[in-house]
Amino acid sequence: MQHAVKWKAATPWASERIPPHVARVPTMLRPIEGRFYQWLARTQTAADAAVVDLGAFVGGSSARLAHGLSQSGHAARLHVYDRFTASEALKQRMLYPAGVAPFPGEDTFELAKSHLAPWHRRITLHRGRIEDIGWCGDPIRVLCIDAFKSADATDAMVAQFFPSLVPGRSVVVHQDFLQPTQPWLVALMWALRDVFEPLAYVRHATIAFRCTRRILPSHLRKARVARLSDEDLLSAIAKSRRAYAGWGIGQPLRRMETVLQASPGCRVAHMMTHERKRFAA
Ligand SMILES: C[S@@+](CC[C@H](N)C(=O)[O-])C[C@H]1O[C@@H](n2cnc3c(N)ncnc32)[C@H](O)[C@@H]1O
Repeated sequence: MQHAVKWKAATPWASERIPPHVARVPTMLRPIEGRFYQWLARTQTAADAAVVDLGAFVGGSSARLAHGLSQSGHAARLHVYDRFTASEALKQRMLYPAGVAPFPGEDTFELAKSHLAPWHRRITLHRGRIEDIGWCGDPIRVLCIDAFKSADATDAMVAQFFPSLVPGRSVVVHQDFLQPTQPWLVALMWALRDVFEPLAYVRHATIAFRCTRRILPSHLRKARVARLSDEDLLSAIAKSRRAYAGWGIGQPLRRMETVLQASPGCRVAHMMTHERKRFAA
């Protein structure tokens, strides 16, 4: 990525059809992102490597992956990670409007389990803090990430999951890559530009990368983001903005710079959001 990153215009996932039993599972993905997830699981997976969904909420991203896998013709497993909790506010905002019947408490494990019941034979649910659970070390073919919500968590999960990626084959999907509140994702992938090539930009915020080389401990050391200064993050964003010229992502990257400048030293996404609101007020 030292040079300009070539824009790949083809979007074969755009014609993917999401069946009603999949579409009914609430998700934070935009419809086109959901089609991308389904396409990825259907076409970019193999029997000998797992698909992993880090941060599944109540199963929306996992359902799209699981249905894609069920169309793939092989038996690769899907590993679904989350704390499986939702605050009352989140339930009101995301679940009840999507048709989930109101329920007491914050535990969403049984809800997610029921959403994923059609594919239960190929799914393993991992409930808890992802950093505490980790990964068994088996090869991972597709790694979908929506849980790198702080710089510390990012370092921990990268160390646990990235060494299991298969060079030349595995795909890492950052569902939040262009979220202005997670600038460490851009710095992470900038630091790893020699071992990943960008594969696709799927609006609104998703960017997917192909792993091109085995990830060594030296790469992981170089890619730690928790100790980076604001200047380091800003520099990675600016370099990425230049490298990705033509991808149409200049505006969200500029927004990311603005949010970071308004929240100096902050490395937790939801706190950056708070700062952003204050900044906007
Ligand atoms: C934005 S939501 C996921 C949305 C889901 N991918 C979808 O598209 O429907 C992020 C999820 O990540 C989970 N999460 C974030 N950090 C986590 C961690 N460290 N351990 C376990 N779960 C985590 C949260 O519980 C939340 O459900």
